[in-house]
Amino acid sequence: MKDNSRRGFMGKAFGAVAGVGAVASLYAMKKSWDPLPSVKAAGFTTLDMSNYEEDVMITEKWRGKPIFVLKKSAKVMKKEEGNPEAEARNIKVGNDNYMIAIGLCTHLGCIPAFRKEEGNFLCACHGGMFDASGLAIKSPPPRGFDIPPFKIDGNKLVLGEVGPEYQAMKDNGVTL
Ligand code: FES
Repeated sequence: MKDNSRRGFMGKAFGAVAGVGAVASLYAMKKSWDPLPSVKAAGFTTLDMSNYEEDVMITEKWRGKPIFVLKKSAKVMKKEEGNPEAEARNIKVGNDNYMIAIGLCTHLGCIPAFRKEEGNFLCACHGGMFDASGLAIKSPPPRGFDIPPFKIDGNKLVLGEVGPEYQAMKDNGVTL
């Protein structure tokens, strides 16, 4: 009887320890499958749009991909006038206009180079070209640059978040 109750106590104590252990290991497991804080933060890239100069192409990074940011001058905007495909890709933040795109050629993924003089992009791999709005203007690229998900937040642009402007572009087939 005494022995039994001792066994009962031991059993309960063991059960309690095992329970705590199980909770601890579940917690440890959850921690190991949750993304690290740095990875979470890496899911979004916030760009301060006041940092860019007209006609200067800057390559940012989002989720390991190059992101082309080109603040368009009045001259570039004039050139795009009357071209609905180019106009549909325009991203307006405050009073300024930008081309923002994933900087990978839609042919086989090379990184095209911006040619400031010509105001376009040339992909050295197979000679594909893109204009300043990101449209493909010479094959083999099958389509313009893809546009990353973005949300306009005042004078900032959050890459990785879906804002109404990006959603409209997706719905209208401007980007994949
Ligand atoms: S990868 Fe750019 S043209 Fe082929």
